[in-house]
Amino acid sequence: MPDRSIREAVLHQDVERIAHNEDPPDPQRPAFHFTAPRNWLNDPNGLIQWEGTYHLFYQHDPDSPLHGLMHWGHARSTDLVHWQHEPVAIAPTRDSADEDGVFSGCAVDDNGTPTAIYSGIQGPHQTICLATSDDHLVTWRKDPGNPVIASTPPGLDLLTTPDRTVHYRDPSVWRSGDEWRMIVGSGITGVGGAVLLYRSTDLRNWEYLHPMLVGDIGQHDPIWTGTMWECPQLIPLGDRHILLISVWHDRQTLYTAHFVGDLHDDGRFTPEHVEIVDPGSFYAPQTFQDDEGRRIMIGWLREQRDREAMAESGWNGAMSIPWVLSLGDDNRVRYTPAPELEALRSDHRRFSDLAVAPGEQTMVPDIAGDCLELSATIEPGTSTSCGLVLRRSPDGAEETRIVFDPTSNALWIDRSRSSLDERADRTPHEAQLDLIAGQPLNLRIFLDRSVLEVAANERTILSERTYPSRPDSIGVGIFAEGGPATFATIDAWTITASM
Ligand code: FRU
Repeated sequence: MPDRSIREAVLHQDVERIAHNEDPPDPQRPAFHFTAPRNWLNDPNGLIQWEGTYHLFYQHDPDSPLHGLMHWGHARSTDLVHWQHEPVAIAPTRDSADEDGVFSGCAVDDNGTPTAIYSGIQGPHQTICLATSDDHLVTWRKDPGNPVIASTPPGLDLLTTPDRTVHYRDPSVWRSGDEWRMIVGSGITGVGGAVLLYRSTDLRNWEYLHPMLVGDIGQHDPIWTGTMWECPQLIPLGDRHILLISVWHDRQTLYTAHFVGDLHDDGRFTPEHVEIVDPGSFYAPQTFQDDEGRRIMIGWLREQRDREAMAESGWNGAMSIPWVLSLGDDNRVRYTPAPELEALRSDHRRFSDLAVAPGEQTMVPDIAGDCLELSATIEPGTSTSCGLVLRRSPDGAEETRIVFDPTSNALWIDRSRSSLDERADRTPHEAQLDLIAGQPLNLRIFLDRSVLEVAANERTILSERTYPSRPDSIGVGIFAEGGPATFATIDAWTITASM
């Protein structure tokens, strides 16, 4: 445990003063993606719009740039884009159910009282705890009855690791008629990930019903869903339901997946199909419905560099842009960037009908930078791969390629030459698209220093972290291989820092 006096200072820190005051500024630190004032950040928690203001809580260790003693950090925004840091919202309490960590959870409106339901960690025990606020979500009082769920449901052989942890966490609560429903992430030994369903009338006394859905560790097609499911969330979307899960296995956070399916009156869920949401750095997203009825999703963008580089930087982890979710006629999820992001744009440039010959890579002279938004509509033609180059140094020693392969309908980000810094991860992650032959590819690209987020035809999102080492790695270009491709339009904007 860190020294108490340091902890107190951090809890009552002058967050505005300490926020982002690196000198010189860290060129990897995102400018318009949310990061903690300093140190570690992971999952978004308790996303809620309260009296018009958006609140983002998040897994946070105020004392360390690596995952340690978890608290709930807090920020507020009136537009989802400009965030104001608030003091730490919920901290562990010594000798209590959350003394070793305030893990992920949600926030609900309990008849006018903001109420957080989260995982309390005490040694190997993972329980469900509750806290309320009576000052507009700034300070939180823990429920005297904590933990409100002290033990896991009887008769279930939940995944237990050699450290004796029974994996059971990340409550997600919603209102259903005149009662509350809650799901908790877990896994069943030898069977697969599990989402456990409860009900309550007062958020404090919970009755376990049954698993909402259980995975199958033997099933690898179309995807493998691991041995444990973190951060489950059930979302009504169109006339279907989406069950979001984040796949965990053997201490590794693999990826977030979702099932599209139907929820039955008895609370069981029948999946129709499952897919990975984003195979890159994105993990443990949370969604909420805002006052306009939009379903907004924010996820954690993990660092992809080694521990030494993470520890050195003094900050760790970023939030994705806010994505607005909808359901297409094909029952597949669509992702559009929240339009509020447009307020950060300046210096619009547009290019049309740029033809690229096979084997050619052309720099676009008027676009350069490390904070950009791009929208490109590409006709892949007979090319075997085509796409954009970002963060290219004039001599080509560093560059990152967004690559579309029409033959396998796959999109990936080639980071093999993104950085001369050996500590940066280069592993490619492939996202499967479902373009039909001849259909143009539209890419929405958000580049923010070490963060790169891409949406393809609103159907697929892919994010990676890249850490170019050179200040002149800012060039933007286009390329085609195996046949010509046409870039029908490229719109580019410089993005101004919001943090
Ligand atoms: C997901 C997760 C959650 C847990 C939290 C701890 O990234 O592992 O399951 O509550 O992070 O920080």
